[in-house]
Amino acid sequence: MKIVNTVKEMQKIVDTHKKNGDRIVCVPTMGYFHEGHLSLMRIARDYGDIVITTLFVNPTQFGPNEDYQRYPRNFQRDVELASSVNIDYLFSPSVEEMYPDNYHTKITVSKFTDKLEGVKRPGHFDGVATIVAKLFNATKPEVAIFGQKDYQQVLVVKQLVKDLLYDINIVVAPIVREPDGLAMSSRNVYLSQEERNIAPEIFRALNLGIEAVQKGEKRRKIINSIVIEHLRKFPQFFVDYVSAVNAEDFSEPNEFHSGDKIVILVAVFLGKTRLIDNMITTVP
Ligand code: PAF
Repeated sequence: MKIVNTVKEMQKIVDTHKKNGDRIVCVPTMGYFHEGHLSLMRIARDYGDIVITTLFVNPTQFGPNEDYQRYPRNFQRDVELASSVNIDYLFSPSVEEMYPDNYHTKITVSKFTDKLEGVKRPGHFDGVATIVAKLFNATKPEVAIFGQKDYQQVLVVKQLVKDLLYDINIVVAPIVREPDGLAMSSRNVYLSQEERNIAPEIFRALNLGIEAVQKGEKRRKIINSIVIEHLRKFPQFFVDYVSAVNAEDFSEPNEFHSGDKIVILVAVFLGKTRLIDNMITTVP
């Protein structure tokens, strides 16, 4: 695995591979790898010849009161973990490399961004869309792999790809969970032991919502309240939002219909740590 730090070098490398007919697969990440990231890198192998993982903690997608400064980082550990799954390149640029002289262009995706994460984290998706576009331009992939855990981000990235005519296939990989159901996240490292013990209740709450749908519940408000009610049993949670939405168009109808694909999305604070999770199902 080769480590690349500059856009110029990355672009030169991918141009050479493309001349040889290689298909490039990109796995965008912010590092502090866990099994979830490694699963994206393994899946990437199935989609092309050259796998590039990008490792960049993107300052523009963090709000002023968010955790950019304390976001977990461990470059040496990430290098070892990425090598262990045999990726070809780790693209790890500096902030100055990705945002020289600050920056004067940003991308705003106006679909899917006016709800949930988009409301709770103003500017977040502008930062995501802008850096994802830049990472695509640096790595020129045919395929890019994103995790379902950031469900809304996936919809935003797919819209970006469509609107800006990127010829890139976006592959969505399943959420990887700890044995007790907690979705893997770099931010789980922030949790105290007590918080870590309670965190899997998010998974249980989501399961209760999904079970209700499978048993015939179609009313959106009731589905939401089943999930919220479970979370409220644990005063350590501050519920930021719970929302069952149409998984394709993100609409929030009063009632779902048979055959609708829905996703229940949750964001909670556990102490100072904000955790998100989701589950998808089809209405019977
Ligand atoms: O999902 C993430 O880790 C980030 O939002 C991404 C896509 C790498 C952009 O910084």
